[in-house]
Amino acid sequence: MKASAVAPSNIAFIKYWGKKDEVLRLAENSSISMNLSNLLTTTTVEFDSRFLEDSVTINGRQNEKERERVIKHLDRIRKLAKITDKAKVVSENNFPTATGLSSSASGFAALTVAGAAAAGLQLSEKELSILARQGSGSACRSIPDGFVQWLNGDTSESSYAVSLYNSEYWDIVDVVAVVNVGPKDVATSDGQKIAGTSPFFQIRVSQMEKKIKMIKKYLKEKNFQKFGELAEAEALEMHAVMLTSTPSLIYWLAGTIQVMKAVKKWREDGLPVYFTMNTGQDMHLLCRKNDFPKVMKKLSEIKEVKQIIMNYPSKGTRLVKSHLF
Ligand code: PMV
Repeated sequence: MKASAVAPSNIAFIKYWGKKDEVLRLAENSSISMNLSNLLTTTTVEFDSRFLEDSVTINGRQNEKERERVIKHLDRIRKLAKITDKAKVVSENNFPTATGLSSSASGFAALTVAGAAAAGLQLSEKELSILARQGSGSACRSIPDGFVQWLNGDTSESSYAVSLYNSEYWDIVDVVAVVNVGPKDVATSDGQKIAGTSPFFQIRVSQMEKKIKMIKKYLKEKNFQKFGELAEAEALEMHAVMLTSTPSLIYWLAGTIQVMKAVKKWREDGLPVYFTMNTGQDMHLLCRKNDFPKVMKKLSEIKEVKQIIMNYPSKGTRLVKSHLF
């Protein structure tokens, strides 16, 4: 059977950095994110008893490391569906991969939904989120619609994401500024493993519940200023943990810092815009829809910014009828 799915990447306002269970990918803390309308992965999966081995093609290439991680996920799906058929997987991102735009979130969400359907499984949103989480933590948040919370569970069954508000709830915009199209030098999964070596990690974890409460309050009130201030401080705090890990993780490039400084300056000049970022060098700018043209114009004047991608809040992962092969 063959099935295809389209999944959005997501940007976390309160982030996931560090795991309490490496194998199950249980996060140390709850996180809150928004799905992104223009950072999309499309994946087609087919299981067939005639296939001799699993084949995995991502953006037209076959890469051994990516293949291994995808096969592990196919094994989880096969186990649930009680099948042994090999699979053909073809996946395409409409944005640069592995530069910090969370291609693993959209990638594993699309693989989960397409793979489960191709294996004949009928899973609930919660079950799909639990399954996606095991491929890549942040992928669990790309399953439900709109604004999403990944619940802080201590077991596999209680660690999944739910929608807080649908994609129509608030017309804020996430503007991605790509500052370099090359891949980052330390993969997120490897970075996550050493989060606990930072002397600031435990302090951070102890304050996460409070932060989650605050961001939910600002979301509820649609208080853009407080919301943006907290999201920006949170991104810098996560990077403070990365910078002080052993070995240190420095994901920023010159262009990253330039955009940070520019955003602060634009704000002083009266433009309400805030930044956040994941691992990697690229920046996410948060602004209201009405301010997007101004932000776009200012960003395009920065030489280091190679590409600008505008995102609205988006639906979660969905099955689609057209296949990639
Ligand atoms: O799901 P992973 O292992 O790719 O980790 C994602 C981590 C961050 O993007 C840095 C933060 C987050 O919550 O998305």
